[in-house]
This record gives sequence, structure tokens and C-alpha cells, in this order.
Amino acid sequence: MSRLRWNHNIHYHRIVLEAIPDDAVSALDVGTGDGLLARDLAHKVPDVTAIDLDRDVVDSARAEFSGINFLIGDVMTYDFRRKFDVVGSVATLHHLANLPAALRHLAGLTAPGGVLVVVGLARPTRLSDFAMDAVGVIQHRWLSWRRGLWEHSAPTVWPLPHSYAQVRQAAAAELPGVAWRKLPLFRYALVWYKPER
Ligand SMILES: C[S@@+](CC[C@H](N)C(=O)[O-])C[C@H]1O[C@@H](n2cnc3c(N)ncnc32)[C@H](O)[C@@H]1O
Repeated sequence: MSRLRWNHNIHYHRIVLEAIPDDAVSALDVGTGDGLLARDLAHKVPDVTAIDLDRDVVDSARAEFSGINFLIGDVMTYDFRRKFDVVGSVATLHHLANLPAALRHLAGLTAPGGVLVVVGLARPTRLSDFAMDAVGVIQHRWLSWRRGLWEHSAPTVWPLPHSYAQVRQAAAAELPGVAWRKLPLFRYALVWYKPER
């Protein structure tokens, strides 16, 4: 895990890592940014690919981490010519314009028996969302003080295009059986195991 640096995205890498099937050998980090999830995945699986649209951030990740296949490109159009046992994406789904199409595409990149894990950001619209975000403010203050908040250098998108409810609804429609979690540090997680057939 990325123990030396801490931020809201790194905090939830463990959700991706804990979902990895025992027999997984390949992983794709979608929207890798500085490459930290790819680095954590590489401690668990031998064959890790990481893709990002932004050349500068990929160049910097490449310079820092070896043994990872870093690609510059759009995950929606890049021709990988393969599927991956683990498809993980942190803080990137809201960059992809068409939410249902993006979920379908990431599911398509997942190998049968593999797992798709998305840790994402969305807008709170419901009382339960705001209540969880209030817990997040406390957790953020405590952990930022204790660990120090590391600022990533990857491009961001604001305002967020979708609400938590919209993401949850789209995921339920596109990924039958998906597990949904709202997380305190202003994030949600989707974990979906692709059926063997
Ligand atoms: C907010 S950053 C998150 C980076 C990293 N996952 C993290 O947790 O720090 C989102 C990243 O997604 C990348 N991105 C946006 N659209 C993309 C696309 N269509 N294909 C690949 N990467 C994309 C951006 O360039 C950016 O680096």
C-alpha cells in the first residue's frame, strides 16, 4: 500500500486490493494519474497495465515506478486487445462523459471471473449522503493532521457530473449483482465480480 503518502484516494486503495481474486495475474489501473494504485496492484499481481490521458502525469509515474506497463490514451477507445483479471479505477469515473457507457466498457475490459472495482466521487443529494459527508469532514481533519495530506498532480474535473443516486442506479443497471458502498471520505465504491460465463 502507498503508506508514505496519504490522501482520500490512496486511503481507499485497500478496497481495490482486498477484492483481487486469488488467481488474478493481470490488472488495469484506469486513470492512473501518479501511478500509486498501479504500484500497489503490482505488489499483488505480476502483470499491471495503467492508462491515463495525461502525458505529463504518465511520464512522471513512469519515471517513479518500474515494472508497470504505463500507457497514454483514452480508456474508452484504447485497443488493449485483451481483458484483465482486475480492473481498478480511483477518482476517474466522473471524468468519463457517458456514465452507463463507461461502466459497460470497464465491465467489458474485465475478464470472466475477474473483478471491476471503482472508487469514485459523486454529488450528495440525499440526507444520508450529507450525513456520511459530515462523518467524512471529521475523518478528513483527523487523518490529514495525523498523516499529512499529499496532493496528487493528476487533472481533476469539477463540478461533479453525477449524484451518488445516479451512479448507484447506473451501476445496478449495468453491473448486475454489483456491491455498492458509500464511503466517509467523499467517495463511493463499486465492486463487481464478472461471472465466469
Ligand atoms: C482525479 S485523477 C485520479 C488519478 C488517480 N487515480 C488518483 O487516485 O490519484 C483522474 C485521472 O483520470 C484521467 N482520465 C480522465 N479521463 C480519462 C480517460 N478517458 N482515459 C484515461 N484516463 C483518463 C485524468 O487524466 C486523471 O489523471
